[in-house]
Amino acid sequence: MKIISFEGFEYSGKSTQIKLLKDYFKKNKIISTFTREPGGNKDLEKIRKVILNSDFNNLTLIMYFFASRFALLSSLKSKGLLVFDRFFDSTYAYQKTNNEEKKLILNLIKFIEKKYIPNITFYLKIDNKSLFLRKKNRGVLNKFDQKYLKDFTRIQNNYNEISKYKVHHRKFITLDASKSENEIHQQIISYLKKWKLIK
Ligand code: TYD
Repeated sequence: MKIISFEGFEYSGKSTQIKLLKDYFKKNKIISTFTREPGGNKDLEKIRKVILNSDFNNLTLIMYFFASRFALLSSLKSKGLLVFDRFFDSTYAYQKTNNEEKKLILNLIKFIEKKYIPNITFYLKIDNKSLFLRKKNRGVLNKFDQKYLKDFTRIQNNYNEISKYKVHHRKFITLDASKSENEIHQQIISYLKKWKLIK
């Protein structure tokens, strides 16, 4: 199984890139399955609602995100390429606020079977200025996204940290989210070709 995951802060254009990739796969008849976290299948989408509308404390969130994750992994029947809209890096980025949580999250990551570790993770890194401009020009975020908006720097730092960890053989690619949609899409396609995930 070949796996790709997408990561990024709010307004990074992650959803747009996932949509562009989906269209590209369709157009080029590349067999793929797209899933997202939290949620990802019919039952777990119910848990997504619970989590994203909750006031759970951080430890509870870590456990929920991982419980939902392990449930999703055991239910996946994928053909071709599997694409995750957020995966374990999100928990490290969003929920890691101290050293104890860091150890816990890194340990939980070790419980993910190797066959589910992405070949490539694309992280759309947004800078302060683009974030500010997009926030001003675009629609309102959900409650959960809003809650984390003030934690931009911490989350950005956490993404930088996890990008340096060796997680099996996965390649962590940081992309400049301030570039145009099409430019980023082309970059993603060329990385997928370069690392032989597509022809
Ligand atoms: P997001 O991809 O932003 O969905 P939407 O585009 O519908 O807003 O994800 C929802 C939120 O979940 C986002 O604020 C990040 C958060 N999240 C975590 O905090 N930890 C996690 O482990 C995951 C998977 C998501």
